Amino acid sequence: MYQFLDSEPVRKEKRLIWAVNRSVMENIGFVPIKRGKKSKSHWNLFVFLLKIFTILLKITGYYQKGYGNAKTINVNELTLKFPNLPTAFNGFKILHLSDLHIDSIPGFAALIIEKVTSLTFDVCLLTGDYRRDINGSFSHILRPLHILSKYIQAPEGTFAVLGNHDTYLMARYEQESGMKLLVNESVEILKDGDKILITGTDDPFSFYTDDALLCLETKGYDFKIAMVHTPELAKVASRRKYDLYLCGHTHGGQICLKEGSPLLSHQFEGKQFNHGKWNIGSMTGYTSRGVGVSGMPVRFNCEAEITLITLEK
Ligand SMILES: [Fe+2]
Repeated sequence: MYQFLDSEPVRKEKRLIWAVNRSVMENIGFVPIKRGKKSKSHWNLFVFLLKIFTILLKITGYYQKGYGNAKTINVNELTLKFPNLPTAFNGFKILHLSDLHIDSIPGFAALIIEKVTSLTFDVCLLTGDYRRDINGSFSHILRPLHILSKYIQAPEGTFAVLGNHDTYLMARYEQESGMKLLVNESVEILKDGDKILITGTDDPFSFYTDDALLCLETKGYDFKIAMVHTPELAKVASRRKYDLYLCGHTHGGQICLKEGSPLLSHQFEGKQFNHGKWNIGSMTGYTSRGVGVSGMPVRFNCEAEITLITLEK
């Protein structure tokens, strides 16, 4: 069972203010980040370089190999131990899905469904990036997301945050996509007299606002989980006594050298945040390599990942 911290009227009012602000950010040439502002022009250059790289892969015959790799999704199971975990949540299972980019590969939803239907979990947490592109239409992803949501049987709920590829307009279609969005807000999960808190922020990579920091100012919980698209707010979450921080965004690099080093990770917090488990103080963090792909539909030396996390006391 879950309940939002804010009442429904307060949530509606906050969501409206956020939507107005986000719509402005999505429609101007500069996007705020924690360190100031950055231009979107770097993205256009990146897209141009990707096109050249795609042509090279096709000429050399590596494209099909990389495409096959991108369609091979692995289930990564791990157990994380926390001495302060409330007893009722011992053995609690989280299905963590990040960076679905569900329209990058035709029929990709079916590949994800094939994997998740064999898993049992209590809650599903999605950490952003549902479509391939960073702008344009999104209506075409609602149906595959809705179908996928039917197969995600999470008794305690399915919660999602937005990534830098997502538009504020998706918040209007929570029912159609089957996702309950956490936009700089928190939800309590209640179980056998115990409770934990899950806080989800808006994407800090392209749409940072101080509201993302404010929503992490939560007190009075034995165990707190932060959901953020990128690792950028990890230090803040650790200072605010969060226990677990789940993110994605990096795709683990998506294209890596043989020893696993990414050519690009699109994050500047440090290479320990590229993928997998990391720690800041007493907080444990996990960066998913992502389920899907963006840019071009290939992976090399970097497996697509569905993560099943078991919490243990
Ligand atoms: Fe992504």
